Amino acid sequence: MSTDRMRRICVIGASGKLGRYMVRQALDRGYEVVGVCRERSVAKLAEFEGRMTVVPGPTNDSEVIRRAVAGCDGVLTVLVPWGVRQYSSGTAQAVLDHAEPDARLVFSCGWHVARDGGDRYSLLFRATVRVVGVLARLARVVDVDDQVAACRRIFASDRRWTVVRGSDLEEGESQGLPVWRRHVGDPALASNRTRRVDFALFMVAALTDDTLVHEAPAIVGRRTPSALAHAGGGRTTGAPGTAAAPTTETS
Ligand SMILES: NC(=O)c1ccc[n+]([C@@H]2O[C@H](COP(=O)([O-])OP(=O)(O)OC[C@H]3O[C@@H](n4cnc5c(N)ncnc54)[C@H](OP(=O)(O)O)[C@@H]3O)[C@@H](O)[C@H]2O)c1
Repeated sequence: MSTDRMRRICVIGASGKLGRYMVRQALDRGYEVVGVCRERSVAKLAEFEGRMTVVPGPTNDSEVIRRAVAGCDGVLTVLVPWGVRQYSSGTAQAVLDHAEPDARLVFSCGWHVARDGGDRYSLLFRATVRVVGVLARLARVVDVDDQVAACRRIFASDRRWTVVRGSDLEEGESQGLPVWRRHVGDPALASNRTRRVDFALFMVAALTDDTLVHEAPAIVGRRTPSALAHAGGGRTTGAPGTAAAPTTETS
C-alpha cells in the first residue's frame, strides 16, 4: 500500500497555517522541501531557514510553479479561493501542467466540494456555503465556486491525484491521523471538526499511500465523538504512519 519513494516534495501555499504544518512534517520525514508562497509572506517561513528552498511568487503563476515542482516526487497544494481571478483553478492547473509525470499530487479543500452524487449535505451546511459564497464573491474577497472548478479539473485529470476534503478546522495538539470517508454525510464525519495539524498529517501521509490515488477523502478528527462512535473507537484506520483506509463502509 505504501511505497515511500519520496525524496523531494513541493508545498504550494507553504506560508499559511496548513502549509507550515506540512513543511514541518515533511522535513521530519527527511524529505527535501521546496515551498511556494507569496513574496510578502516569505518571512513566515523564517523558522525553516536553511532547511528548505523557497520559491516566492503567486501560486497561480505557471512559471513559478514550473520552477518549484521540477524534480519533485510529490506536490502538496493548499487550494484557496482568494479573490475573483481564478486563483484556485489557476493554481491547480499549473500543478497539473508542470508536475513531474509520475509525481503524487495531493490537494486540500473543504467538504463543500462534492466528488460525485454520493455526498449528502445538511440543509444548514448548503445554506451556509451558499450565503457565505455569494457574500464573499460580491465583496470580491473569495470565490468558492472557483475552488469547486479547480477540483473538477483535478478529478478529470489522469494524474496521480488525491483531493483531501477538510471539515471545519481547529488548532490544538495532534490527535493522530484523521478518519476518512468517501462521502460527506457519513455518520463517522458528523462531528465536523479536525485539528489543522492532523489535516496536514493526512496530506503528507497521502503522498506515500497509493490506495488514496484518485480518491477525495472527507476527513474528521479521529478523537471526535462521531469518529469514536462510528469508526472503530478511534483505532488507527490504516497501517500506522499511512493515510487511512475506511474501516467499514465506503458507500
Ligand atoms: N479554515 C477552515 O475552517 C477550513 C475548513 C475546511 C477546509 N479548509 C481548507 O484547508 C486549507 C487551508 O485553509 P486554512 O483556512 O487553514 O488557511 P491557511 O492554511 O492559513 O492558508 C491560507 C493560504 O491562503 C493564502 N492567502 C491568504 N490571503 C491570500 C490572498 N489574498 N491571495 C492569495 N493567497 C492568499 C495564504 O498565503 P500567505 O501566507 O501568503 O498569506 C495561505 O497560503 C484550504 O484548502 C481550505 O479550503 C479550511
